[in-house]
Amino acid sequence: MIAGADIDLMSESFFANPFPILERLRTWQPVYFFDPFQCFILTRGADIEAFTKSPCFSSRRADALFGSLGMLGEDEATKKMVSVWSRLVFFQDPPRHTLLRQLVMKGFTPAAIEHFRPRLVSLVERTLEKGRRQGEMDVVADFAEPIALNTIAELFALPEADRPRFMDWSRDLLKPAGAGVGSDEARNAVRRSTNDMVDYLADLVEKRRAAPGDDLISQLIAGEQGHHQLAGEAVIQSFQMIGAGFVTSTNQLTNTVLALMRHPEQLRALRQNPGLLRGAIEEGLRHEPAVMSINRVCVEDTEIGGTRIPKGRLVYAMVAAANRDPSVFPEPERFDITRTPNRHMTFGVGAHYCPGASLIRLEIEEALRALLTLPRWELADKPYDYQGSNFSDRGPRSLHLRFARQ
Ligand code: HEM
Repeated sequence: MIAGADIDLMSESFFANPFPILERLRTWQPVYFFDPFQCFILTRGADIEAFTKSPCFSSRRADALFGSLGMLGEDEATKKMVSVWSRLVFFQDPPRHTLLRQLVMKGFTPAAIEHFRPRLVSLVERTLEKGRRQGEMDVVADFAEPIALNTIAELFALPEADRPRFMDWSRDLLKPAGAGVGSDEARNAVRRSTNDMVDYLADLVEKRRAAPGDDLISQLIAGEQGHHQLAGEAVIQSFQMIGAGFVTSTNQLTNTVLALMRHPEQLRALRQNPGLLRGAIEEGLRHEPAVMSINRVCVEDTEIGGTRIPKGRLVYAMVAAANRDPSVFPEPERFDITRTPNRHMTFGVGAHYCPGASLIRLEIEEALRALLTLPRWELADKPYDYQGSNFSDRGPRSLHLRFARQ
């Protein structure tokens, strides 16, 4: 018998391997009411596609999200935090969304990303040096994190000495991305890190205004000028992009490496045919997404798949489940780096499609290309476990890899 009582979307085992539960939901109750967080969970590809296009669901959900996490309050620090998050492009509907989206997309044109490739290649090579010598490394701490951090830091020209602070802030910021901020300590960390990072960036934006460079902060400042509706957005949107780019990139690169380790025949095929690199990146994104869900708030009573969704409810669309929907992907559980087509939803769907997608693809491409020069990867004799505090972000805390020393 299929029961819902043992469906726990906040358990260690769910974070370690969410796919059996997501599959059970998709086949049993594809529009599922998750009582602990009073929200709906969608798991079918077609429902998620329709959901992202429906005017009944809004991205203006900062209050609903923070409310559901018990994070609204009248104190100054909380009000400041909520007002910052409410202004992010991520939390807008048109017409405000369209305007802000144009501003943030300026720095993410295909040409701008391609222009960054040589700097990225040397950053990856520098990062790999120690691991190459030692014959062992933690893919998270020694490789993925420094690459993710320094990529974003280079693009925004963040002062070298302050980069570790951005790493700490970014880790805190994503804690409310899903439904599971569990402790006061985590709630305080989000509040403190949002406000500290915004204060820091406000200062940096003023310095950059006085002495512009060819970095993304300077581009945001230039984009603001002449548009009174965009005043102050260089601070807010650089906060959004720096915050969005670190944990997600770290997790996606690590998830892809781990997927290749778990499917040695695919790793072998990739080593024999580097032309499969892009296929491996897409399959890593589909099979092991760093972002498991997107969410919206319902703004008009509606129905999905025959289930009534009342106005005011938060709805989480599990892209990780849609990516394994057998009506979209033949043999969805199979990790297959030659899979075509591969229209996964890891970067979202429609108007809010992730602006960082090309950057991440480039980052993983160059990182994997370099890693593949190291022969015979094997998992070192240390356990890895998944970090989990919400049902949005997913990636291992550490991943110790050993290879022949060079
Ligand atoms: C593997 C890494 C990443 C994944 C899986 C990912 C995933 C996503 C998803 C699913 C959305 C859509 C959210 C929605 O529909 O509500 C999104 C939006 C966004 N992402 Fe990413 N992201 C990644 C990396 C990045 C990076 C590196 C940046 C910036 C440098 C970035 C910046 C943004 C921004 C600004 C938005 C909001 C766009 C909008 O609302 O129009 N992301 N991301």
